[in-house]
Amino acid sequence: MQTTSIHGMWSSRLAFIMAATGSAVGLGNIWRFPYITSENGGGAFVLIYLFCILIVGMPIMFSEIVIGRRGRMSPINSLRELAADAGASKSWMGLGVLGVIAGFLVLSFYSVVAGWTLHYGFLYAKELAGGVGVTDPTANFTGLLASAGEMTFWHGVFMVMTVGVVAFGVEKGLERAVSVLMPVLFVLLLVLLGYGMNTGHFQEAVGFLFKPDWSQVSGGMIVTAMGQAFFTLSLGMCAIMTYGAYLPSGVSVPRVGTTVVIADTLVAVVAGLAIFPIVISFGIDPAGGGPGLIFTSLPLAFAEMPWGIPYGMAFFLLLSVAAWTSSISLMEPATAYLVESTNLSRKTAALCVAGLAWTLGLASVFSFNLWSEVRIGGRDIMSAIEYVANDIMLPIGGLLTAVFAGWILSGKITREELGEKMPNWAYSAWLWLTRVVTPAMILVVLASLLGII
Ligand code: PFF
Ligand code: NA
Repeated sequence: MQTTSIHGMWSSRLAFIMAATGSAVGLGNIWRFPYITSENGGGAFVLIYLFCILIVGMPIMFSEIVIGRRGRMSPINSLRELAADAGASKSWMGLGVLGVIAGFLVLSFYSVVAGWTLHYGFLYAKELAGGVGVTDPTANFTGLLASAGEMTFWHGVFMVMTVGVVAFGVEKGLERAVSVLMPVLFVLLLVLLGYGMNTGHFQEAVGFLFKPDWSQVSGGMIVTAMGQAFFTLSLGMCAIMTYGAYLPSGVSVPRVGTTVVIADTLVAVVAGLAIFPIVISFGIDPAGGGPGLIFTSLPLAFAEMPWGIPYGMAFFLLLSVAAWTSSISLMEPATAYLVESTNLSRKTAALCVAGLAWTLGLASVFSFNLWSEVRIGGRDIMSAIEYVANDIMLPIGGLLTAVFAGWILSGKITREELGEKMPNWAYSAWLWLTRVVTPAMILVVLASLLGII
């Protein structure tokens, strides 16, 4: 059994928690959660999402860390080796390949949206320096989407930031990038929450977020909720598995895994509670958000708040940092694989991955302007990529991960990796969820997606 990884190791339990939380907390919580919640009518959607986090996300979070730490290599090679050791087919490495492909797709649009947040951060910085900032939020956002050049530029800046960290490797790059700024972002969210509570629409927002209208539930809504659970926790594409490979032996997997799940969920819920009072108080239809929701609603509040301009700048720049720590983890699996399996250096490997993802991202950029007429299955290009990656590929990846951890790895291995501090009842619960409940739930959702049920 390998005790270290050739790519380096996290220096401590806390370093892993910071990195994995950095991966989880990002645009998924603050940009995507509010906007798809608004599109899906609130309450029922949020409760189904939370249920998926608990029953599907949590067991898979443990499974990915266990597989990664046991294998100590990039997902493709870890899965191949562990499968071989267990006497199972080497084609399990296909799960790693699926993860790498999903990673490219997610990274491609993720970087485009992170580019928007960078753009807004700089717009507020300009305003702070006496220039013209965000004047008419809706017009500003529409203008940004219309400009392929501007979006391509910021998408490029963000990709360069990401490759800069990944190129220098785990301890030098990743760890340093993921320590202080996350707590600051959380404090800013709490400030926004305070503002939201004072709008006089907080009750309504709580009602919208948590009062279920079960008549609204549809197969499509459940698919979206489960896709969001995977996306927000960075699961189903072997990113957490990759980080698990750098986790020192002896650190408790249930403990770190639970911490990451709780932190991510807390940020999403606080973001929702902060944003919806603002949306409601400015008379924006909460049911019609779309991907522009935070960019068109929050600047209205920033324009009114005391210190709104520096606050807006800090908010969007820190959101870019949160996106940065996530995109690093999106790039790491493919990069680690190239380093292991070719004779490319880490720098060259990271550059190749970034170049390909950036190019792919142009499709998302153009989906708002040059190619705005194009529809794939009724969706614009970026929504189609989001749908295929988040709602289909991640759940399939999660299903295979659960089956691998539950049925292919021996009970001896999983018991050992989950640690003797985990009580027997908790281990049994994990095993039962991982073997039966989680895969069954994912299968039902995927079947409804295919229109089978
Ligand atoms: N979890 C990230 C977010 O919520 O913004 C997005 C993400 C990162 C998804 C890494 C998948 C991944 F592997
Ligand atoms: Na998240």
